[in-house]
Parts: sequence; C-alpha cells; structure tokens
Amino acid sequence: MHITLRQLKVFEAVARLASYTRAAEELHLTQPAVSMQIKQLEGGAGLPLFEQLGKKIYLTEAGRELYHYSRAISQQLDEADRVMAEMKGVRRGRLTVAVASTANYFAARLLAVFNQRHADATIILEVTNREGLLQHLDVNDIDLAIMGRPPEKLDLVAEPFMENPLVIIASPSHPLARMKKIPLARIQQETFVVREQGSGTRIAMERFFAEQGVQLSTGMEMSSNEAIKQAVQAGLGLGIVSIHTLELELETRRLQVLDVESFPILRHWYVVHRQGKRLSPVAQIFKEFVIKEARGLLKVPG
Ligand code: PGA
Repeated sequence: MHITLRQLKVFEAVARLASYTRAAEELHLTQPAVSMQIKQLEGGAGLPLFEQLGKKIYLTEAGRELYHYSRAISQQLDEADRVMAEMKGVRRGRLTVAVASTANYFAARLLAVFNQRHADATIILEVTNREGLLQHLDVNDIDLAIMGRPPEKLDLVAEPFMENPLVIIASPSHPLARMKKIPLARIQQETFVVREQGSGTRIAMERFFAEQGVQLSTGMEMSSNEAIKQAVQAGLGLGIVSIHTLELELETRRLQVLDVESFPILRHWYVVHRQGKRLSPVAQIFKEFVIKEARGLLKVPG
C-alpha cells in the first residue's frame, strides 16, 4: 500500500470534520483537490474509506482503522516538529563531551553546575585519553573535548581555560619527601611509574625530560591516574600526574608532591572542537560556561 503523508493529512482532516468542504477550507485546498487525494488513497488502500448517505459522509470500517493510524501519525509528526523547535534552543538539547581521563577529576563538577542551570539538556560524557580524544575529533562524533593542547596541524579550534600543573608524587615515607629543591639530576636516579602511550600526561612528561636532557628510568606503565597513585603509595616508584588528580590524596596525606627543580610542568586545559563545526546552542553555551566559569568553580588542590 502506497500512502503519502499529504494524502494522510487530507484524510485525517476529512474524517475528523466529516466533510470534504470543511477539510478543504482548513487545508487551504479546493474541494476537487481534496476529493482527488482521497480517491488516490482509496485506490492505494484498495478499499473504500468513506461512504455517502444522503448529504453526510461516514467512515467505513477500513476508514475507521486508517483514521486511528492517521491520528497517531499526525500526533507523532507534531511532536517531531516540537522537538526540532526545542532543539534549536538549549532546552532539550543534546551535548556529547569527551574529556581526558585526567580532566575527569573535575569534569563531573562542571557538568553538575551546568546541569542545575539547564536541567532539560541531555549530556553524554565520554572519558578517554588524549589519543582517544583526537580520534573522536577526527571522526566527528562528539561536540566538544576537554584536553591538553591539541596538535597545531589538525583543523581544530582550541581555547585554554585553566592551568594544568604536572607534579612529581611520592609516598610520604619516600626519602625524597622531606627534601627541598631536589635537583633534576637526583630525580634521574629514581624509577618512575608512568602513564600509557597515548596519554597527554605521558607525552608532556617525555617532552619535558627530553628538553632538560634528563634520562628517566621508567618502571611500570599504567593506563589510569588511579593506578599510578596506588602504585606510588605502595612504593613502586615516583609518579608524574596532574595536580587535579590529587585532591583526596593530598588531603589525607597519602601522597606527597615533591619539591623538584623546574617543577611543576606547566600545561593548560583546552576546550576543543573541529574547525567549522556547527555547535548546537547547548554546546555553544557549555563552551562559554567552561571558558568563563571553570576556573572560578574548581578548586585546584595543593
Ligand atoms: P591524559 O590527559 O594524560 O589523561 O591523556 C590528557 C592531557 O593531559 O592532554
């Protein structure tokens, strides 16, 4: 059965108003145009949909069935219309944000404040490392990313919004924990527990030591900041992490930031999207919110 939406709309009006003339008026069509649509619809259905008794028209059994469906379909179309209109605004908008595993330590707090202000917006949060974020940006399946500075050669728009100091951590019982102004040469004698390849923290750390001409001895490699912190607490070596990951451990004194020459490594957090990306209103508002308010809302540990 071949039915067009236009035929269904005409049918719904004729059935509801029980009149070709009034349906034609409502739809701004001529009466012959309305009759023609109904004829075509009956042809397509292979069944009569109306019967004329005297001056009045009535739905046939098949007409009543079809009326039931046509009302449901037009309600759905109206709803689709409404949702599209709402999506043009912030209300009911959908936002997919991907954040670096390290940024996840503060992302939830930002989203909580944003959610209080825009409770009807749907927010989807992805957490992955830097390499994963660059892949998301490449396939264009997210609105925004929160990450360290992306490579310049990619067609991305990146705006900094907060500092991201990387520090060296040790267990409080480590011999270096009480030392002041530890020289980099002394650090060279230690073993480090490091993040996985593809982590922004790892790349920044390697770049820093290469620039300083320091050869670091790396021990175990771990794919999360939590694992690194646990390993350092357990005495497996020193670690390098963002200060943002340390709120709890510094408060409870389970880890200590070492006072090392040239540290912290100063990085920044950026809110990033593809160049030319058509940000939805909710994505645009979230981006502005992060740039203007993140720094004030978040307490940097230490
Ligand atoms: P990551 O952090 O180490 O969790 O990938 C991202 C970054 O610092 O760029």
